[in-house]
Amino acid sequence: MSGSEIVAPERGGITRPDRKPRPRPPLLETPAFAKLNLTLAVGSRRGDGFHDLRSIFLRVGLSDRLVVALRGEIEGDVGPDTLEVRGDPRCPVEDNLVLRAAALLRAGTRGPLPPLAFRLEKAIPVGAGLGGGSSDAAAALELAGRAWALAHAPAEVLELAARLGSDVPFFAMDVPAALVEGRGENVTPLPAVRGRLGVLLVTPPARLSTGAVFAAFDKLGPSGDTAARMTRRLADALSRGMDAPQLVDEAASLRRANDLWPAATQLQPELEGLRDELEDLLERPMLLSGSGPTLFALYPSRVDAANAARALTGRSRPRSMGAFIASTDLTVPDRPWSRR
Ligand code: C5P
Repeated sequence: MSGSEIVAPERGGITRPDRKPRPRPPLLETPAFAKLNLTLAVGSRRGDGFHDLRSIFLRVGLSDRLVVALRGEIEGDVGPDTLEVRGDPRCPVEDNLVLRAAALLRAGTRGPLPPLAFRLEKAIPVGAGLGGGSSDAAAALELAGRAWALAHAPAEVLELAARLGSDVPFFAMDVPAALVEGRGENVTPLPAVRGRLGVLLVTPPARLSTGAVFAAFDKLGPSGDTAARMTRRLADALSRGMDAPQLVDEAASLRRANDLWPAATQLQPELEGLRDELEDLLERPMLLSGSGPTLFALYPSRVDAANAARALTGRSRPRSMGAFIASTDLTVPDRPWSRR
């Protein structure tokens, strides 16, 4: 996942060589973490085309990195914001949420703002159910706000985040875990699980479009209330305080707590076989994250998850071949970096 470099085409930036160059401003940067859905209960389609959700989101250690600098070395530079993406040729550039986040902030601000140069280093697979693009968008809102010294109230940032995508408010809240409801904009923070946990991620090479999975969900008809019940139960348990081994013990029941599983497997039937194969090999329940296709398993430590990842990459089983396989920390300690 390295070496490829895509640079958004410039759209007629104006430079003024007659002006005195000013020193290059410092780079600002932040990690943009992935998320997992421990549960995902989906209601029916609403009038606005979205579905009411109830989901437990967890921030996990796998992260992209977003860097930004003010692009204008010359006073008065009015060129466009730019984005360079490294690490994943599948990641869109021109309509990337990073540029849309900056454009949204710019549109809501009076007066000119200097152009920004973003660099996005991708590690989270695209279209995988891990929220990578949404996390990048939240990171862009933060960094652009800091670069332009804007002072938005947290509620304003959340409102902008919701306009960028349903998962973006969770990332803009910058919390380790949350109950996420509504379209995705109602985020109730939950405490992190106590103790260290590891997670194994397996993302098949064929990716899934979130919109297509929700459309398949509509055609399949309503699901039962297992996911909704599990979500309520887990939210209660987490808010009372949950230890890592307790969560690992819940994995077998959480496996049934994603309402999008039937829709995801209808669009990608091989996901069913992959899950069976991984469960046989690893002797662990495999859960679907979001609209998929990433499957994940919980481990009592990062080392255990890393060993499982190594065991899989060593194999030449046809089903897991070509998959993105990674292990990471399930709980991300509160940051030494500060987004708020
Ligand atoms: O908000 P986002 O751009 O991530 O959503 C992508 C698509 O997923 C939407 O266009 C919609 O079809 C579907 N979706 C939904 N209900 C949600 C979130 C997403 O139907 N709560």
